[in-house]
Amino acid sequence: MSDSLLDAALAARANAHAPYSHFRVGAALADSSGRVHTGCNVENATYGLTVCAERVAVFKAISEGAREFRRIAVAADTETLTPPCGACRQILWEFCGNIEIIMLNPRGKSETLRLKDLFPRAFDASFL
Ligand code: THU
Repeated sequence: MSDSLLDAALAARANAHAPYSHFRVGAALADSSGRVHTGCNVENATYGLTVCAERVAVFKAISEGAREFRRIAVAADTETLTPPCGACRQILWEFCGNIEIIMLNPRGKSETLRLKDLFPRAFDASFL
């Protein structure tokens, strides 16, 4: 079954700036109005300044005024599907709550889960 959110994540992956790792990632985040916000990983010669595809997508969306999100698709070329890193899980929890996450690769393999399954017992504003 085709899903335009998955296609958008694969297309965003083509824009990855990954000259150091050569590991290209694309993300596509659907907000509650149906708008899709995409991101790719953007690396830097100072490696620690690299930003993952997921965070680029979230920050683009927030900066455009979106506040409610439904799903995020994450595309990378791995057989074992690539999940969001720890930092991205924290950022996703902050802005998207227990969002549906679809991991996929370019050969049509995909898996869907919820952020809570990847990121149990999160620290968030409820503690402050
Ligand atoms: N990366 C992402 O963009 N998202 C992930 O879910 C995993 C890792 C990027 C960061 C870095 O540019 C490269 O993949 C290798 O870690």
